[in-house]
Amino acid sequence: MTIPLAHANGETAMAESNADQIEYWNGPSSDKWVTNQQRMDRMLGAFSDFAMRQADIGPGERVLDIGCGCGATSHALAAHVGPSGQVVGVDVSRPMLDVARGRQTDLPVSFVEADAAAHDFGANRFDLLFSRFGVMFFADPDAAFAHIGRAMNPGGRLSFACWRPLSENPWMLQPVLVAKDFIDLPPRPGPEEPGPFSFANPERVRRILTSGGFSDIEFTPHDHEMVMGETVEQAIQTAMEVGPVGTAANEADTDTRAALNKAMAEKLATYAKPDGIRLGAAIWCVTARMP
Ligand SMILES: C[S@@+](CC[C@H](N)C(=O)[O-])C[C@H]1O[C@@H](n2cnc3c(N)ncnc32)[C@H](O)[C@@H]1O
Repeated sequence: MTIPLAHANGETAMAESNADQIEYWNGPSSDKWVTNQQRMDRMLGAFSDFAMRQADIGPGERVLDIGCGCGATSHALAAHVGPSGQVVGVDVSRPMLDVARGRQTDLPVSFVEADAAAHDFGANRFDLLFSRFGVMFFADPDAAFAHIGRAMNPGGRLSFACWRPLSENPWMLQPVLVAKDFIDLPPRPGPEEPGPFSFANPERVRRILTSGGFSDIEFTPHDHEMVMGETVEQAIQTAMEVGPVGTAANEADTDTRAALNKAMAEKLATYAKPDGIRLGAAIWCVTARMP
């Protein structure tokens, strides 16, 4: 299937290989991100803050925010580069970009609805490529990074956050372990297939970035306990809406859903801290340079 994407200049890019992901990020999944956008930004903010610190952003720089979603990171990047800089957020999800565009700002931030692997950004346009969990969904990541790399200045930097393996991420693992006793979960994507954990293996990411022309590739681990919700009920909602559990649970009968909810509540309650339900999360911050 081929989905046409409107470019900022009115042209159309045909993104054959990423069509499944484009459909996914314009379907019910994007509605969940839009509805829970404030909670998601609170959960994920520590990781983008870390990746921004690693990027050492200066005033006046031009930044591309890949898979910018609802735009929180693009606006934060704009605060770093200031009025003389420029931030472009690119994403395939129209509902999420509508939220991004709706955020008030006087700073130079703009958004493009396009497949980052296919969009013509122009050459030598960016000093920094940034992403918070937006680069793991390319069907052909080698080609995608080679393409995006051509939009960078010589000497430009890259800094993105991606998840380490599921086994190191209890915020996703624990709900899956609870749910699998009640419902059939969809098969996990293979290690080379698009998905949240597809950049967990540093050797794979190093290969992708090297073939895309990047050098000085470094992986810095960062761990943080994310607040999944202030209450157990909110944490269940997050667990059901992010990741594979919710969709499968929706297809279960009422009794099964009730039993799953009860077991999930008991498990998540064991992670209660004074400010909410906190589960561990682990990322790589990947940094690199375009020679
Ligand atoms: C896990 S979400 C992260 C969103 C946002 N960066 C954040 O942290 O809130 C992944 C994002 O990548 C976007 N995405 C997936 N494939 C893409 C592609 N080929 N080009 C641009 N964006 C893409 C999705 O639409 C989605 O907004």
